[in-house]
Amino acid sequence: MVKKCLFPAAGYGTRFLPATKATPKEMLPVLTKPLIQYGVEEALEANLKTMAIITGRGKRAIEDHFDISYELEHQIKDTSKEHLLREIRSLISQCTFSYTRQVEMKGLGHAILTGETLIGNEPFAVILADDLCTYKGDNVLKQMIEVYEKYQCSIVAIEEIPKEETHKYGVIAGHLVDNTDDTYRVTDMVEKPSPEDAPSNMAIIGRYILTPDIFEILKETKPGKGGEIQITDALLEQAKQGKVIAYRFKGKRFDCGSVDGFVEATNYFYNKTKG
Ligand code: G1P
Repeated sequence: MVKKCLFPAAGYGTRFLPATKATPKEMLPVLTKPLIQYGVEEALEANLKTMAIITGRGKRAIEDHFDISYELEHQIKDTSKEHLLREIRSLISQCTFSYTRQVEMKGLGHAILTGETLIGNEPFAVILADDLCTYKGDNVLKQMIEVYEKYQCSIVAIEEIPKEETHKYGVIAGHLVDNTDDTYRVTDMVEKPSPEDAPSNMAIIGRYILTPDIFEILKETKPGKGGEIQITDALLEQAKQGKVIAYRFKGKRFDCGSVDGFVEATNYFYNKTKG
């Protein structure tokens, strides 16, 4: 059973400077909620109650966010503002949070490997909080857990992207296994290829279910694209043994790691509250 969700949250967020100079990018709010809270809510809705967060220097605000602020609670108790903390308080009471720091920024694969001590020897989910996903039915992680239960191997969420954008993503090649649930057996995957080198236009987005053997593979994975240890390269090793399924998820994803995607998400959620 998948019980834990890992949140790599150590990155610098350079695309949002100067906002991210002293504020973690995961704490940037879409409306009144920070990005990482949307991720934690998604995990909890998918019945994952243990959140394992990979932080780094300058990320203390994340820990404080998922904790009680006695002074603040005291200040707003019995006022009209009290309800504003209700949601986060309930979230905190339903989950446990554990943290470890990534001391050096050596890529997403390295961040995930840093989480081994929090995860142990069990399958786990990964959410990249800057990919904000929404769907009116079961959320994307819940959909993926169903796929995991069927195939019992690593699962990546994919979506079709315009070919000229392949350089922003891990891109897969695969054979359709089941068109009733939109699953592909992955045969190849490449981190951020140019459009000419991309094996398809199916891009990995920031949701994964990983089997724990990924940690041993990551320990052997050499730095790849950009000199960083890439989760895509480690997953390719599993894929060579037929052990990675790509799942075309139902729903909408906003790339909140870019200003355009962030504004789009803000407008979307704003219109939703008004409509
Ligand atoms: C990471 C992964 C990439 C994946 C993307 C999804 O890249 O390395 O394979 O497609 O997340 O958001 P990043 O966006 O951190 O550069």
